[in-house]
Amino acid sequence: MKVAILGFGTVGVGVYEMLENCAGLEPGPVLVRPGKEDRPFKVSSMEQIVNDPEVSAVAEVMGGIEPANTYVTMALNAGKHVVTSNKALVAAHGIELAQLARLKGVSFLFSAACGGGVPFLHNLAIASQSDEILALGGILNGTTNFMLDAMQSEGKDYGDVLKQAQALGYAEADPTADVSGLDALRKIMLACAVAYDKLPVDGFDREGIESITAADVADFQASGLTCRLITSGGPAGESVYAYVEPVLFPANAPECSVVKNFNMARYNGKNAGAIVLMGQGAGRYPTASAVVRDLCGLGALEMLRPACAKVQADNSACAHPYYVRTDASRAGLFRFRESRLIGSVLRGVTEPVAVPAMHALANKIREEGGSIFFAAMEA
Ligand SMILES: NC(=O)c1ccc[n+]([C@@H]2O[C@H](COP(=O)([O-])OP(=O)(O)OC[C@H]3O[C@@H](n4cnc5c(N)ncnc54)[C@H](OP(=O)(O)O)[C@@H]3O)[C@@H](O)[C@H]2O)c1
Repeated sequence: MKVAILGFGTVGVGVYEMLENCAGLEPGPVLVRPGKEDRPFKVSSMEQIVNDPEVSAVAEVMGGIEPANTYVTMALNAGKHVVTSNKALVAAHGIELAQLARLKGVSFLFSAACGGGVPFLHNLAIASQSDEILALGGILNGTTNFMLDAMQSEGKDYGDVLKQAQALGYAEADPTADVSGLDALRKIMLACAVAYDKLPVDGFDREGIESITAADVADFQASGLTCRLITSGGPAGESVYAYVEPVLFPANAPECSVVKNFNMARYNGKNAGAIVLMGQGAGRYPTASAVVRDLCGLGALEMLRPACAKVQADNSACAHPYYVRTDASRAGLFRFRESRLIGSVLRGVTEPVAVPAMHALANKIREEGGSIFFAAMEA
């Protein structure tokens, strides 16, 4: 089967190389920008790809919402299978693209968009047909895991580990999507859509790692705790819950063994119990391997089923005790289980607080010019 590739960057080059050595698949034309057709297989017109009868599938690995959405729509309309690594595209237009794919009798798959090389969505798509998925999520952003791990193991401050992550190519020049939790949030949106036929598009709670300091890490490390940025999703009545926040884990938790830029995706099946998948969440070949894995499974798997619909996330029933570091003047805002005042800095652990309430409180403190770091306490 000949596969056209849209985009010849980090992932695109990896997909091309893997297809050159993959039984049953071969690379077809590669879409590049006009003026960049420096090899015979590169083309700059999407029409050339959709009108090529030898091309049966398209791998969209160019990123962004437009023109990716237009090109994927063109490919599906032309009766070609589509595999994409583009989480932003699937979060924005996945349901419509999956409907079009069904209409045309082709596949629309996107394993690489959540967990890179970790076969999380692939497993979820199958497991959710045979089991009840009670909860899902995990460590789905390698950049922030690298940074938190480096802060903890090397005692460095946030700014230093961010520079280190950028120098190693783990963080982009503008790291906002990673450190703010947006990248992880998009991944939990896709996982909920695959597992529950519900794509949450609103009502999330999202806290990244931008406010953590070396002093925070030293403080909870003294109690044997490790911080990870965790995405959480699960059923919530007619809707789903979906949120991202730092979580503190005791030393025996599996999350503590996830170091560097690795990912750890997990789900709990009613029958299967806890399933944990670990691996490279990004990078040329891990991500390309997930794209090619999808290409090998065309026709056998549906990730977004006909029932999939957009919903508003409902986190109101989710609650945890939280570790909080804030200004002493904010003490009255929290019901602390235990707290310590060190100069003008207040540190403590709250009684259980609903997730939306905790995130709203932190937003309010910041809007008023105050400072806060918070992390859920894993029981
Ligand atoms: N890198 C990873 O580890 C990873 C992991 C998981 C998912 N993903 C996802 O995979 C996608 C690609 O990521 P990447 O890291 O490979 O990005 P990248 O290195 O920036 O590559 C994207 C390529 O697409 C090309 N492109 C963009 N718009 C185009 C257009 N209109 N026409 C023709 N070519 C166009 C770019 O060309 P120019 O250079 O000329 O702009 C570039 O060569 C993204 O959606 C990303 O979120 C990446």
